[in-house]
Amino acid sequence: MANSKYEYVKNFEADDRLPPSNWIVIRIDGVHFHRFSSIHEFEKPNDSAALCLMNSCASAMLKHFPDIVFAYGVSDEYSFVLSEKSEFYQRRSSKNVSLFVSYFTSAYVTKWKEFFPNYDLKELPYFDGRAVCYPKAKVVRDYLAWRQVDCHINNQYNTCFWMLVKSGKTKREAQLRLKGTQTKEKNEILLQQFGINYDELPEMFKKGSCVFRNKVEEIVKRDETGSSVKRRKNIVTIDHVDIIGQKFWDEHPYILHEDCSMVNNNYEYVKKFEADDRLPPSNWIVVRIHKCDFHRFSSRHEFEKPNDSNALSLMNSCASSLLEKFPEIIFAYGVSDEYSFVLSEESKFCKRQASEIVSSFVSYFGSAYVMKWKEFLPDRDLKEVPYFKGRAVCCPKAKIVRDYLAWKQFDCHISNQYNTCFWMLVKSGKTETEAQLCLKDTQEKEKNEMLFCQFGINYNKLPEMFKKGSCVFRNKVEEIVKLDEGGIPVQRCNEIVIVDHVDIIGPRFWDGHPYILHED
Ligand code: GTP
Ligand code: MG
Repeated sequence: MANSKYEYVKNFEADDRLPPSNWIVIRIDGVHFHRFSSIHEFEKPNDSAALCLMNSCASAMLKHFPDIVFAYGVSDEYSFVLSEKSEFYQRRSSKNVSLFVSYFTSAYVTKWKEFFPNYDLKELPYFDGRAVCYPKAKVVRDYLAWRQVDCHINNQYNTCFWMLVKSGKTKREAQLRLKGTQTKEKNEILLQQFGINYDELPEMFKKGSCVFRNKVEEIVKRDETGSSVKRRKNIVTIDHVDIIGQKFWDEHPYILHEDCSMVNNNYEYVKKFEADDRLPPSNWIVVRIHKCDFHRFSSRHEFEKPNDSNALSLMNSCASSLLEKFPEIIFAYGVSDEYSFVLSEESKFCKRQASEIVSSFVSYFGSAYVMKWKEFLPDRDLKEVPYFKGRAVCCPKAKIVRDYLAWKQFDCHISNQYNTCFWMLVKSGKTETEAQLCLKDTQEKEKNEMLFCQFGINYNKLPEMFKKGSCVFRNKVEEIVKLDEGGIPVQRCNEIVIVDHVDIIGPRFWDGHPYILHED
């Protein structure tokens, strides 16, 4: 159904395309293989048949998916490296991961009997997977080296562990015996107690398995003169070699070959680097901005402690400017050096691209802050450039927006009470450390009593702006625009941006302004 009213739901589908010109590694891992391996009586610590089955599945993967350039496997995991140029399913992460685990699993079940002719599958094997991007071939090599080092360490430990257990030790005793031992010591245990030379164990156990295409020359026919006509062929090969050192990669330079040539001098591909950070539709968007380095900024400009009315009013005025400028903002809440702006759930502002929304807001806010500075702090020069950082949060329900705002206002109250006490103590001659100690573990009531008894301050009578922070929103007011012929006033509903310092934790404010967080 084209263009139906239901089509908007398509926008929930996040674009998970992985950035171009990055190598993609998809690592899959058997789920609950500890149990799976014991149900199927895998040999411990390494079951050759089980490992060969994994390798055979990986080999099938390379044969089926030409974009895979290399695979490395150990235990119940396999990593598949896709070429940096791969355009497989437009590099969409979930598509690639899901079809890789799916193909691998099907192969595992199909091939099971080939490797375990005497065992039936007693439960269904399944794998999970994830995709990671690595920008340089060098990093892919480091990734693979990391997995191979891991293979070596685990294999050495497990070989010792199971030999000790097989020789009669309990698992706990074996663990204790190996605790803190180094490589050399483990090799000595194997050699002296069990006559095993670690170096002589199968390469598959020690090094894991590599699957890749080997270029081989093949004689296809003989020409008239009898000399052979050769053809280069790629043969999918399984090997158990060192991939930490240089040798393997020098011998197979084409595997992780980085291609820096530009296709047809076309530079447009760089556009694909632009990540899509669209926020999901039908969610309220909260953009919270926060002044950077506020502590230094406030002391350089001698802001009053703990609250500077002028500085706070400047913040409020900037927030009002934002609401005037951007009709999409339906509510804002500010305290100290931060402000949260709420955009309506259906807002299409900046196509809901998070970075564009956040940057527009911090930029406009910063601009207003500088422009209005003199208006609110006429006796002080701006000594440094103020700047803000911001982030966007999605709230799927109006109730969650309210809880977010309640959290912020509750925080405002707690901080303000603490700071008021703290600075009164400091002003009365205490050091900051002494003031801190005085307030440690005190409850709300105790702090109020301290303020009242020691400093004659009734906390409840402090300015609402300090205690409750600032709310900025549009108030609907009826305005008389003209009188009609009969002299009767014609009214129009007007929206005026106002700043207020009210409770937004309870229902009262929201009941009085139902249109603000109206759920459509
Ligand atoms: P999740 O991956 O988190 O679901 O758990 P898991 O049980 O699969 O454990 P994990 O992937 O961390 O480790 C793989 C487990 O598979 C090992 O701990 C072993 O128990 C088991 N395993 C893998 N290969 C072999 C093998 O060749 N022989 C035996 N006996 N067990 C193996
Ligand atoms: Mg596992």
